[in-house]
Amino acid sequence: MRAAHWRVALQAALASFLTAATLSADAGEKYVHAARGAEAKFEYCTTCHGPSAQGFRGFYVMPRLAGQPAQYIENQLLAFLQQRRRNPVMANVAHGITPSMFPALAKRMSALNPPPFGGAPSGEAALGREIFAHGLPDQNVPACSACHGPDAKGQREIPRLAGQLYWYMVQTLSLWNSERGQGGREDISWIMRPTVANLTPKQIQAVAEYVSALR
Ligand code: HEC
Ligand code: HEC
Repeated sequence: MRAAHWRVALQAALASFLTAATLSADAGEKYVHAARGAEAKFEYCTTCHGPSAQGFRGFYVMPRLAGQPAQYIENQLLAFLQQRRRNPVMANVAHGITPSMFPALAKRMSALNPPPFGGAPSGEAALGREIFAHGLPDQNVPACSACHGPDAKGQREIPRLAGQLYWYMVQTLSLWNSERGQGGREDISWIMRPTVANLTPKQIQAVAEYVSALR
């Protein structure tokens, strides 16, 4: 599919999704309280996601949250809460914070800009760069840059990929259909389904190598 078609499809998905799931943004007192609570919770988030939210690789791989668009972070927290996205660890975490804290937490993470975590292989990064910028037209794989942006910084509900941990990228793309967009209702994650279906494991690794090193 051409980039223009993808953009139209994405906009349609976004429009229907946003009307269904937008949080009621209650301004004033409630928000100020939530913002203070969120600052305390931030420390808790960093125990797993790393001191400046740059990600961490231990027994589990913790994704980078630093520099993610705030809307993406908010939407994923909501997805864990609603079980649209399946992950036992983050389901617990999301239940431990009130949704009114989501905006302040997301904003805090979004403002951080540490260097990439690093440590990824780099042998296939040239292939990854090609896939990222131009896709694989013969395999019906669109250019990642068409949605994730030429610098892989993401926008609104579309995540930043720059500096994301290699191992997390490989894992999340490989398990896409069983972890995202669950519960029988189509959500924004379905926009990635054709892409993950048409990439080989080697191509997933290549593109993960490339973007994980981007600042
Ligand atoms: C006990 C460890 C732990 C804590 C504490 C934790 N997280 Fe997570 N988080 C994870 C793991 C593991 C994942 C990856 C889940 C997956 O693979 O789907 C994750 C994923 C996420 C994602 C999705 C990232 C992406 O790129 O899609 C967001 C957003 C997130 N966490 C936000 C938070 C926030 C905000 C807090 C603090 C309130 C927090 N997390 C605290 C372990 C943790
Ligand atoms: C049509 C738009 C579109 C295209 C093209 C696209 N993506 Fe995505 N991508 C998205 C959206 C939207 C999400 C957020 C999904 C969600 O909310 O679960 C996403 C999520 C992701 C994630 C999850 C990131 C995280 O932090 O968990 C990865 C990894 C990813 N895309 C990689 C790619 C790669 C690699 C390509 C190119 C081969 C690509 N995408 C092409 C729209 C797109």
